[in-house]
Amino acid sequence: MIAPILRSLAELRAKTNEWHRNGETIGVVPTMGALHEGHLSLAQAAKEGCDRVIVTIFVNPKQFNNPEDLTNYPRTEHEDAQKLSRYGVDVIYVPDPQDIYPDGFSTTVSVAGLTDMMEGPFRPGHFEGVATVVAKLFLQTQADRAYFGEKDYQQLLVVRRMARDLNIPIEVIGCPTVREPSGLAMSSRNLLLSPEGLKIAALMNEIMRQLAKDLAAGKDFVTLAQDAKAALLNAGFTEVEYIDLRCAETLESLPRASKPARLFVTAWADGVRLIDNIPVNPA
Ligand code: PAJ
Repeated sequence: MIAPILRSLAELRAKTNEWHRNGETIGVVPTMGALHEGHLSLAQAAKEGCDRVIVTIFVNPKQFNNPEDLTNYPRTEHEDAQKLSRYGVDVIYVPDPQDIYPDGFSTTVSVAGLTDMMEGPFRPGHFEGVATVVAKLFLQTQADRAYFGEKDYQQLLVVRRMARDLNIPIEVIGCPTVREPSGLAMSSRNLLLSPEGLKIAALMNEIMRQLAKDLAAGKDFVTLAQDAKAALLNAGFTEVEYIDLRCAETLESLPRASKPARLFVTAWADGVRLIDNIPVNPA
Protein backbone atom coordinates (compact mmCIF):
# COMPACT_ATOMS: atom_id res chain seq x y z
CA MET A 1 0.00 0.00 0.00
CA ILE A 2 1.29 3.45 -0.90
CA ALA A 3 1.66 5.55 2.25
CA PRO A 4 -0.15 8.89 2.39
CA ILE A 5 2.03 11.87 1.50
CA LEU A 6 1.59 14.67 4.02
CA ARG A 7 2.73 18.14 2.98
CA SER A 8 1.94 20.31 5.99
CA LEU A 9 3.15 20.34 9.56
CA ALA A 10 -0.47 20.59 10.78
CA GLU A 11 -1.39 17.28 9.07
CA LEU A 12 1.76 15.61 10.37
CA ARG A 13 1.15 16.77 13.93
CA ALA A 14 -2.43 15.44 13.86
CA LYS A 15 -1.00 11.98 13.08
CA THR A 16 1.93 12.02 15.51
CA ASN A 17 -0.26 13.33 18.36
CA GLU A 18 -2.73 10.49 17.74
CA TRP A 19 0.04 7.86 17.68
CA HIS A 20 1.62 9.14 20.87
CA ARG A 21 -1.79 9.25 22.59
CA ASN A 22 -2.12 5.56 21.71
CA GLY A 23 1.30 4.85 23.24
CA GLU A 24 2.88 3.99 19.89
CA THR A 25 6.58 4.62 19.18
CA ILE A 26 7.57 6.62 16.11
CA GLY A 27 10.64 6.16 13.92
CA VAL A 28 11.80 8.75 11.41
CA VAL A 29 14.02 8.29 8.36
CA PRO A 30 15.15 11.68 6.99
CA THR A 31 16.03 11.63 3.28
CA MET A 32 16.33 13.90 0.27
CA GLY A 33 14.49 11.40 -1.94
CA ALA A 34 15.76 9.60 -5.08
CA LEU A 35 15.55 6.52 -2.89
CA HIS A 36 17.72 3.45 -3.39
CA GLU A 37 18.29 0.24 -1.41
CA GLY A 38 20.43 2.13 1.13
CA HIS A 39 17.54 4.42 2.07
CA LEU A 40 15.09 1.52 2.00
CA SER A 41 17.22 -0.44 4.48
CA LEU A 42 16.71 2.44 6.92
CA ALA A 43 12.94 2.30 6.43
CA GLN A 44 13.08 -1.43 7.11
CA ALA A 45 15.15 -0.96 10.28
CA ALA A 46 12.68 1.71 11.44
CA LYS A 47 9.73 -0.60 10.83
CA GLU A 48 11.42 -3.36 12.83
CA GLY A 49 12.18 -1.01 15.72
CA CYS A 50 9.07 1.19 15.93
CA ASP A 51 5.28 0.98 15.77
CA ARG A 52 5.02 3.83 13.26
CA VAL A 53 7.41 5.03 10.58
CA ILE A 54 7.71 8.42 8.91
CA VAL A 55 10.03 8.84 5.92
CA THR A 56 10.76 12.49 5.21
CA ILE A 57 11.71 13.74 1.74
CA PHE A 58 13.10 17.26 1.57
CA VAL A 59 15.87 18.48 -0.71
CA ASN A 60 17.38 20.87 1.79
CA PRO A 61 18.77 23.97 0.06
CA LYS A 62 20.78 25.01 3.14
CA GLN A 63 23.14 22.04 2.96
CA PHE A 64 24.21 22.45 -0.68
CA ASN A 65 27.34 24.52 -1.10
CA ASN A 66 27.06 24.22 -4.88
CA PRO A 67 23.87 25.76 -6.41
CA GLU A 68 24.18 23.56 -9.51
CA ASP A 69 24.17 20.44 -7.32
CA LEU A 70 20.90 21.63 -5.77
CA THR A 71 19.25 22.31 -9.14
CA ASN A 72 20.38 18.96 -10.55
CA TYR A 73 19.40 16.92 -7.50
CA PRO A 74 17.02 14.18 -8.73
CA ARG A 75 13.39 14.58 -7.67
CA THR A 76 11.46 11.32 -8.02
CA GLU A 77 8.64 11.56 -5.51
CA HIS A 78 6.25 9.19 -7.27
CA GLU A 79 8.85 6.43 -7.68
CA ASP A 80 10.00 6.98 -4.09
CA ALA A 81 6.47 6.46 -2.78
CA GLN A 82 6.16 3.27 -4.88
CA LYS A 83 9.45 1.91 -3.52
CA LEU A 84 8.44 2.62 0.07
CA SER A 85 5.15 0.76 -0.34
CA ARG A 86 6.93 -2.56 0.37
CA TYR A 87 8.16 -1.43 3.78
CA GLY A 88 4.98 -0.64 5.69
CA VAL A 89 5.86 3.04 6.05
CA ASP A 90 2.94 4.90 7.68
CA VAL A 91 3.50 8.40 6.35
CA ILE A 92 5.73 10.12 3.81
CA TYR A 93 6.33 13.69 4.93
CA VAL A 94 7.24 16.03 2.08
CA PRO A 95 7.23 19.33 3.93
CA ASP A 96 6.21 22.58 2.37
CA PRO A 97 9.44 24.65 2.32
CA GLN A 98 7.52 27.35 4.24
CA ASP A 99 7.07 24.91 7.13
CA ILE A 100 10.83 24.31 7.24
CA TYR A 101 12.17 27.79 6.46
CA PRO A 102 9.35 30.30 7.02
CA ASP A 103 9.91 33.91 5.96
CA GLY A 104 12.43 35.53 8.26
CA PHE A 105 13.95 32.20 9.35
CA SER A 106 17.11 33.21 11.23
CA THR A 107 18.36 30.24 13.25
CA THR A 108 21.33 28.02 12.46
CA VAL A 109 22.33 24.92 14.37
CA SER A 110 26.10 24.48 14.34
CA VAL A 111 28.00 21.56 15.85
CA ALA A 112 31.65 22.37 16.65
CA GLY A 113 34.52 19.89 16.71
CA LEU A 114 33.07 16.94 14.80
CA THR A 115 32.58 19.18 11.77
CA ASP A 116 36.13 20.60 11.69
CA MET A 117 37.55 17.74 9.62
CA MET A 118 36.85 15.64 6.53
CA GLU A 119 33.58 16.79 4.89
CA GLY A 120 33.49 20.00 6.98
CA PRO A 121 36.31 21.97 5.33
CA PHE A 122 35.53 20.54 1.87
CA ARG A 123 31.87 21.59 2.07
CA PRO A 124 31.57 24.91 3.92
CA GLY A 125 28.14 25.37 5.51
CA HIS A 126 27.09 21.81 4.74
CA PHE A 127 26.86 20.49 8.30
CA GLU A 128 25.12 23.62 9.57
CA GLY A 129 22.51 23.02 6.88
CA VAL A 130 22.19 19.36 7.87
CA ALA A 131 22.08 20.01 11.63
CA THR A 132 19.50 22.78 11.21
CA VAL A 133 17.11 20.82 9.02
CA VAL A 134 17.49 17.59 11.01
CA ALA A 135 16.81 19.43 14.29
CA LYS A 136 13.62 20.77 12.71
CA LEU A 137 12.61 17.36 11.37
CA PHE A 138 13.18 15.78 14.79
CA LEU A 139 11.04 18.42 16.47
CA GLN A 140 8.35 18.38 13.80
CA THR A 141 7.96 14.59 13.71
CA GLN A 142 8.34 14.15 17.50
CA ALA A 143 9.90 10.78 16.70
CA ASP A 144 11.36 8.51 19.39
CA ARG A 145 14.05 7.06 17.11
CA ALA A 146 15.83 8.27 14.00
CA TYR A 147 17.64 6.08 11.49
CA PHE A 148 20.76 7.25 9.65
CA GLY A 149 23.20 5.47 7.36
CA GLU A 150 26.81 4.80 8.30
CA LYS A 151 27.49 5.69 4.65
CA ASP A 152 27.58 9.30 5.89
CA TYR A 153 29.36 8.43 9.11
CA GLN A 154 30.41 11.96 10.04
CA GLN A 155 26.83 13.15 9.50
CA LEU A 156 25.57 10.36 11.79
CA LEU A 157 27.88 11.50 14.62
CA VAL A 158 27.08 15.19 14.07
CA VAL A 159 23.34 14.54 14.22
CA ARG A 160 23.68 12.37 17.33
CA ARG A 161 25.76 15.07 19.07
CA MET A 162 23.26 17.78 18.07
CA ALA A 163 20.29 15.83 19.50
CA ARG A 164 22.15 15.21 22.77
CA ASP A 165 23.36 18.80 23.10
CA LEU A 166 19.88 20.22 22.49
CA ASN A 167 18.08 17.64 24.69
CA ILE A 168 15.93 16.48 21.80
CA PRO A 169 14.48 13.24 23.19
CA ILE A 170 15.32 10.97 20.28
CA GLU A 171 17.62 7.99 19.87
CA VAL A 172 19.83 8.26 16.77
CA ILE A 173 20.50 4.82 15.32
CA GLY A 174 23.26 4.11 12.77
CA CYS A 175 22.64 1.45 10.11
CA PRO A 176 25.25 -0.35 7.96
CA THR A 177 26.11 0.85 4.46
CA VAL A 178 24.29 -1.02 1.71
CA ARG A 179 26.57 -1.88 -1.22
CA GLU A 180 26.41 -3.05 -4.81
CA PRO A 181 27.71 -6.60 -5.37
CA SER A 182 30.99 -4.91 -6.50
CA GLY A 183 31.38 -3.36 -3.04
CA LEU A 184 30.52 0.15 -4.26
CA ALA A 185 28.47 1.97 -1.61
CA MET A 186 25.00 2.76 -2.96
CA SER A 187 24.48 6.44 -3.63
CA SER A 188 22.23 8.56 -5.83
CA ARG A 189 25.47 9.95 -7.31
CA ASN A 190 26.33 6.53 -8.78
CA LEU A 191 23.70 7.25 -11.46
CA LEU A 192 26.03 9.95 -12.80
CA LEU A 193 28.82 7.42 -13.50
CA SER A 194 29.47 6.03 -17.01
CA PRO A 195 30.01 2.24 -17.30
CA GLU A 196 33.78 2.92 -17.25
CA GLY A 197 33.38 5.25 -14.22
CA LEU A 198 31.42 2.55 -12.40
CA LYS A 199 34.30 0.11 -12.84
CA ILE A 200 36.76 2.63 -11.42
CA ALA A 201 34.40 3.53 -8.55
CA ALA A 202 34.07 -0.12 -7.57
CA LEU A 203 37.82 -0.30 -6.95
CA MET A 204 37.59 2.22 -4.10
CA ASN A 205 36.09 -0.28 -1.69
CA GLU A 206 38.50 -3.00 -2.75
CA ILE A 207 41.50 -0.73 -2.05
CA MET A 208 39.93 0.34 1.25
CA ARG A 209 39.38 -3.23 2.39
CA GLN A 210 43.02 -4.12 1.72
CA LEU A 211 44.14 -1.03 3.64
CA ALA A 212 41.80 -1.86 6.54
CA LYS A 213 43.22 -5.37 6.69
CA ASP A 214 46.79 -4.04 6.99
CA LEU A 215 45.68 -1.48 9.58
CA ALA A 216 43.90 -4.13 11.65
CA ALA A 217 47.21 -6.00 11.76
CA GLY A 218 48.69 -2.97 13.53
CA LYS A 219 50.68 -1.34 10.70
CA ASP A 220 51.29 2.44 10.67
CA PHE A 221 48.77 4.49 8.75
CA VAL A 222 50.94 7.14 7.08
CA THR A 223 52.86 4.93 4.63
CA LEU A 224 49.87 2.70 3.96
CA ALA A 225 47.77 5.78 3.14
CA GLN A 226 50.35 6.98 0.61
CA ASP A 227 50.29 3.58 -1.09
CA ALA A 228 46.49 3.55 -1.08
CA LYS A 229 46.39 7.03 -2.64
CA ALA A 230 48.75 5.87 -5.38
CA ALA A 231 46.60 2.77 -5.92
CA LEU A 232 43.46 4.93 -6.28
CA LEU A 233 45.09 7.27 -8.80
CA ASN A 234 46.44 4.26 -10.64
CA ALA A 235 42.95 2.74 -10.75
CA GLY A 236 41.66 5.84 -12.57
CA PHE A 237 40.53 8.18 -9.79
CA THR A 238 41.38 11.73 -10.81
CA GLU A 239 41.73 13.25 -7.35
CA VAL A 240 41.90 11.94 -3.78
CA GLU A 241 40.55 14.55 -1.34
CA TYR A 242 41.37 12.65 1.83
CA ILE A 243 42.22 9.27 3.30
CA ASP A 244 41.81 9.34 7.09
CA LEU A 245 42.01 6.88 9.94
CA ARG A 246 39.94 8.11 12.86
CA CYS A 247 38.50 7.01 16.17
CA ALA A 248 35.04 5.57 15.49
CA GLU A 249 33.51 7.57 18.35
CA THR A 250 35.27 10.93 18.51
CA LEU A 251 36.73 11.15 14.97
CA GLU A 252 40.14 12.06 16.42
CA SER A 253 42.92 11.24 13.96
CA LEU A 254 44.80 7.99 14.71
CA PRO A 255 48.36 7.02 13.67
CA ARG A 256 47.36 3.35 13.83
CA ALA A 257 44.22 1.36 14.64
CA SER A 258 44.85 1.19 18.37
CA LYS A 259 41.13 1.27 19.22
CA PRO A 260 37.90 0.78 17.22
CA ALA A 261 38.50 2.99 14.22
CA ARG A 262 37.06 3.99 10.89
CA LEU A 263 38.80 4.42 7.57
CA PHE A 264 37.45 7.29 5.44
CA VAL A 265 38.12 7.96 1.76
CA THR A 266 36.83 10.67 -0.56
CA ALA A 267 37.92 10.71 -4.18
CA TRP A 268 36.75 11.81 -7.62
CA ALA A 269 36.12 9.43 -10.52
CA ASP A 270 34.50 10.27 -13.84
CA GLY A 271 33.63 13.78 -12.58
CA VAL A 272 31.76 12.40 -9.54
CA ARG A 273 32.74 12.88 -5.90
CA LEU A 274 32.55 9.51 -4.11
CA ILE A 275 32.77 8.99 -0.36
CA ASP A 276 33.03 5.78 1.63
CA ASN A 277 34.10 4.52 5.06
CA ILE A 278 34.56 1.15 6.69
CA PRO A 279 35.29 -0.06 10.23
CA VAL A 280 38.81 -1.05 11.27
CA ASN A 281 38.87 -3.16 14.39
CA PRO A 282 42.29 -3.83 15.91
CA ALA A 283 43.15 -7.54 15.99
P1 PAJ B 1 20.29 11.41 1.74
O1 PAJ B 1 21.58 11.57 1.02
O2 PAJ B 1 19.03 11.27 0.96
O3 PAJ B 1 20.44 10.17 2.70
C1 PAJ B 1 19.42 9.83 3.59
C2 PAJ B 1 19.93 8.75 4.51
O4 PAJ B 1 20.27 7.58 3.76
C3 PAJ B 1 21.20 9.17 5.27
O5 PAJ B 1 21.10 8.76 6.61
C4 PAJ B 1 22.29 8.40 4.52
O6 PAJ B 1 23.43 8.12 5.33
C5 PAJ B 1 21.54 7.12 4.17
N1 PAJ B 1 22.21 6.39 3.09
C6 PAJ B 1 22.62 6.85 1.88
N2 PAJ B 1 23.25 5.88 1.18
C7 PAJ B 1 23.25 4.77 1.96
C8 PAJ B 1 23.75 3.44 1.81
N3 PAJ B 1 24.37 3.05 0.71
N4 PAJ B 1 23.56 2.56 2.83
C9 PAJ B 1 22.91 2.95 3.97
N5 PAJ B 1 22.41 4.18 4.17
C10 PAJ B 1 22.58 5.08 3.19
O7 PAJ B 1 21.82 12.38 4.12
C11 PAJ B 1 20.91 13.08 3.68
O8 PAJ B 1 20.05 12.67 2.70
C12 PAJ B 1 20.64 14.47 4.21
O9 PAJ B 1 21.83 15.06 4.65
C13 PAJ B 1 19.57 14.50 5.36
C14 PAJ B 1 20.05 13.71 6.58
C15 PAJ B 1 18.23 13.95 4.86
C16 PAJ B 1 19.34 15.96 5.82
O10 PAJ B 1 18.89 16.75 4.77
